Amino acid sequence: MTPAQVLAEWGPRAGLLGKPTPLPAKIDRIDLKSRFKVNPFLMAPMAGVSDAAYRTMARAGGAGLAYSEMVSCAGLHYGGEKTWELVEPAENEPDIAVQLFGSKPELFREAAASVSERLGERLALIDINMACPVPKVTKKGEGSALLDSPKLAAGLVRACIDGVGSHVPVTVKVRRGRRMGEEVAPEFARVMEDAGASAIAVHGRFANQLYHGEADWGCVSRVAQAVCVPVIGSGDVSSSQAAARMLSETGAAAVMVARGSYGNPWVFRDAAAILAGTSPSPRTPREKIAAFRCHVRLLDATGANLKRARSLAGWYLRGMPEAARLRGMVVTCQTLDDYLAVADAAERALDDVG
Ligand SMILES: Cc1cc2nc3c(=O)[nH]c(=O)nc-3n(C[C@H](O)[C@H](O)[C@H](O)COP(=O)(O)O)c2cc1C
Repeated sequence: MTPAQVLAEWGPRAGLLGKPTPLPAKIDRIDLKSRFKVNPFLMAPMAGVSDAAYRTMARAGGAGLAYSEMVSCAGLHYGGEKTWELVEPAENEPDIAVQLFGSKPELFREAAASVSERLGERLALIDINMACPVPKVTKKGEGSALLDSPKLAAGLVRACIDGVGSHVPVTVKVRRGRRMGEEVAPEFARVMEDAGASAIAVHGRFANQLYHGEADWGCVSRVAQAVCVPVIGSGDVSSSQAAARMLSETGAAAVMVARGSYGNPWVFRDAAAILAGTSPSPRTPREKIAAFRCHVRLLDATGANLKRARSLAGWYLRGMPEAARLRGMVVTCQTLDDYLAVADAAERALDDVG
């Protein structure tokens, strides 16, 4: 089955769209402000997570846009097809945001140009990662290390714009700062805007907090006040309520959902419902099992490594009857049928409790 066939058949059984909604034709893709007005709830970039299947689930759950995992510019230059797989949308993704990381302007120019050429109209935007705190990345001056080098970072923005021309937005994603207590995001964002960035995503934690501690949404507001381009807020968006609240409290034009989307592809549509003043009903265990089935089938249909389904099982089946036994089953799963058997067992366990 193709990803489109999987989603058409299995998505609606899980309360998801059978086909993702594209950006309305009247909206120019360079105009992010208008795009975010149509739908401000975005699926965040997550290395090792936001592959084509994950993004498809997010779009089917109502995300306005979904990001690729961070992709190395050097990897695209030297590595070839394996790295390109991270960039390639599934056939039924209307468009995707591609996030690049690196530190060399020439490689950014080249990567942005070739991504734009390969994806054509399906490239919504190029985002530059200036947020990753992992030492393997920062020790090469990449990711959040760029927060210490605004001139170089501005050069990377200009290089990407050079690479894609004027029809694809180039954005950046930053942290609050590199070191605890040293907030640089508002000033840094201004420099990126001057260099031509079309939007600024800000994760309200310092890089050396990694993913711990509370994200400061006040920092999202300060960045939103510092620049005229749209700001995308990130950090501790753990539910649809939090997503709607960040949007109304911070002045952000859009919100990224990251860990809050684990096992919850409906979070985007639910957030939109809350924003519109209605309260979405909680998902039933059977819907969650149906979503797990759909997601695993999408992994298979997109040619992904099925090992990724192990964490998915943990997320979708959390708190269900016989969860420990189901986790035990998952450890030995190899094939699509093995994972679908776990879904069947979860359903039987529900039947048993009535
Ligand atoms: C497993 C994982 C991988 C991530 N990978 C990326 C990445 O590749 N690029 C990026 O900009 N942020 C990445 N992030 C950060 C998220 O996009 C987001 O900014 C962060 O998790 C804060 O949001 P949350 O507290 O709501 O999860 C990652 C986060 C997680 C948990």
